Amino acid sequence: MLAQLSKNIFLYASQSKMLNQAAKKWGLRFGASQVVAGETIESAIKKVRELNEKGLVCTLDHLGEFVSSREEAIEATQYNIRTLEAIHRAGVQSNLSVKLTQLGLDIDFDFCLNNMRQIVETAKRYNNFVRIDMEDSAHCQATLDLLHELRRTYDNVGTVIQAYLYRAEQDVKDLKGVSLRLVKGAYKEPPEVAFQEKQQIDENYMNMIRLHLLSGSYTAIATHDHHIIEKVKKFAKENNIPRNQFEFQMLYGFRTDMQQQLAKEGYTMRVYVPFGNDWFGYFMRRLAERPQNVAFALKGFFGK
Ligand code: FDA
Repeated sequence: MLAQLSKNIFLYASQSKMLNQAAKKWGLRFGASQVVAGETIESAIKKVRELNEKGLVCTLDHLGEFVSSREEAIEATQYNIRTLEAIHRAGVQSNLSVKLTQLGLDIDFDFCLNNMRQIVETAKRYNNFVRIDMEDSAHCQATLDLLHELRRTYDNVGTVIQAYLYRAEQDVKDLKGVSLRLVKGAYKEPPEVAFQEKQQIDENYMNMIRLHLLSGSYTAIATHDHHIIEKVKKFAKENNIPRNQFEFQMLYGFRTDMQQQLAKEGYTMRVYVPFGNDWFGYFMRRLAERPQNVAFALKGFFGK
C-alpha cells in the first residue's frame, strides 16, 4: 500500500512540467549522479570509455522528453547528431537511444519524422544504430508508425516493446525481423491498456522474449531481474539461439556486479547511459520502480 503510494507520487512527479523545468537549473541533485552520467557529452563519453574498458558496450541517451516547441525539438535533434559524432570521434562502443517526444512527436508527426531521418542518416554514415525508446501508451502507435516509415529507408533503427501492454504480443509478432529492446514497462498505465499484476507482466515478458528469439530476430533483453535473466540464458541454450542474436541491457548505475558478470560469461551486455540536464523525469521513474532505489539515491545524496 505504502509502496504503491510512493510509486504513484514518483510517477506523478516524473510528469510534472514545473518540476522538470526547475530541475534543469538545479544541476544533478538528490543522488541523481548515481544514475546519470553527467550533464555534458564529454562526461558521458568518459563514462562510456570506462564501461567499455570493463567489457561493456553502451547506448547513450541525451535526456529529454515531452518537448512542446519546434526550437527545442530542433536543438535536441542537433544534440543527438553531435552525440553520434562524438561517439565516432572517440571510437567508443556505443549506439544511441532517443525519445520521440523530445524530437517533436507531440508537435507534428512529419516534423518529428524529418528530425529522426537526420539522426538515423548520421548514424548510418557512422555505421551505428538508433534505438527509439518507448514512452507512455498514448505515444505507442505513433512511435510504431514512425518506425515503420523510417524502416522503408533504414535498417539501422529499432524500438522498444513493453510487456505490460496488452498489445505487446501482437506488436512483437508484427515486428519480426526488427531489432527490439524488450522491457517490462516504466510508465503509469491504466487497466484498460495494461496488466497491473507483476506476475502477469513477467509472464508476458518471457512470452515476448521467446517469440522474438524463436523468430530469429535480434533481441535486447533489458531488465535487472535475475530470474528473467536466468530463464533467458537457459532458453537460449536449449533452443540453440546464437549469442550474437541477443544481448542483455541494464541501466547505468544499477546492478553493476551483475553487468560485469554477464560480460565475463561472454554475453553482450549493454549499459544504457543517460546524460544531460533534463534528468528529473528519468530519475523519478527509477525511484518509482523500486523502493530500494530511494535508499540508493539517498546514499548518493549524502555522499555514501
Ligand atoms: P523489476 O523492477 O520488475 O524487478 C524484478 C526483480 O529484480 C526485483 O524484485 C529484484 O529482485 C530484482 N532487481 C531489480 N532491480 C534491482 C536492483 N537495482 N538491484 C537488485 N535487484 C534488483 N521502460 C520503458 O517503458 N521504455 C523504455 O524505452 C525503457 N528502456 C529501458 C532500457 C533499459 C536498458 C532498461 C534496463 C530498462 C528500460 N525501461 C524502459 C524500464 C523497464 O520498463 C522497467 O521499468 C525497469 O527495467 C524495471 O524493471 P526490471 O525488469 O528491471 O525489474
